[in-house]
Amino acid sequence: MKDKSYDTDLLKLIDFKKLPKHIAIIMDGNGRWAKRKFLPRYFGHQEGMKRVIDIVSASSKLGIDCLTLYAFSTENWKRPEEEIESLMKILVSYIRKELEKLVENNVKLNIIGDISNFPTLARTEVERAIFETENNTGMNLNIALNYGGRDEIIYGIKNLLNDYKLGKINIDNLNSEIFSNYLYTKGQPDPDLLIRPSGELRISNFMLYQIAYTEFWFSDVLWPDFSEDKLYEAIIDFQKRNRRFGGL
Ligand code: IPE
Ligand code: IPE
Ligand code: MG
Repeated sequence: MKDKSYDTDLLKLIDFKKLPKHIAIIMDGNGRWAKRKFLPRYFGHQEGMKRVIDIVSASSKLGIDCLTLYAFSTENWKRPEEEIESLMKILVSYIRKELEKLVENNVKLNIIGDISNFPTLARTEVERAIFETENNTGMNLNIALNYGGRDEIIYGIKNLLNDYKLGKINIDNLNSEIFSNYLYTKGQPDPDLLIRPSGELRISNFMLYQIAYTEFWFSDVLWPDFSEDKLYEAIIDFQKRNRRFGGL
């Protein structure tokens, strides 16, 4: 059973003046969670979706400006068709279940990645959610779908070359700040804190351009067991770090 008083204790340790503006999470470990319980992987993804609901709500309550959740990578197409199908179903059910709450909580949904090849139903539901949250001014929620860091850089270069062809950009003036506006995260700050549960110590093609100075926080807990407490722990740890950005 979760001890709610523990939440409150951890919350008290958070310095609300020094919150990370942008938190990114690699939501990993759903399959292993299910396996440990002798359940099909699908159950792990379903439980993982519940954690999405909890963490979106906790982050928005804390006052985080931007939350990015890695839900499906460009490499995840290598999985069996039936697993991909179940992930698409879960995506649709997440939106149907949560859209109203996102609107109510002033959360603006944004997709990073290319969903043009997603099944029609998943795509239409996602587009509906983007449309209905378009004018929200609270937390930006980026869901990374068919997302890969390398793909995003190439997408950025293609966009940039288009503008170059149209005479909209002078290559001599190009710098990292201008380039970042050609990426999916256009206009958003780079992640301050990247969280990866499940015990894997790797990036798995996530936000390669944006994580230049991001603080990493790893945990062995599997995503379906991730809780608000874990989020608070990560933030408290983050706030103890000395970020130098190459300076002294
Ligand atoms: C994360 O959990 C969800 C996706 C990548 C879609 P996994 O499905 O990767 O779970 P593990 O890593 O096999 O435990
Ligand atoms: C990363 O997890 C992608 C998502 C969480 C969506 P994976 O499970 O796909 O990563 P690897 O294969 O362990 O690197
Ligand atoms: Mg995994």
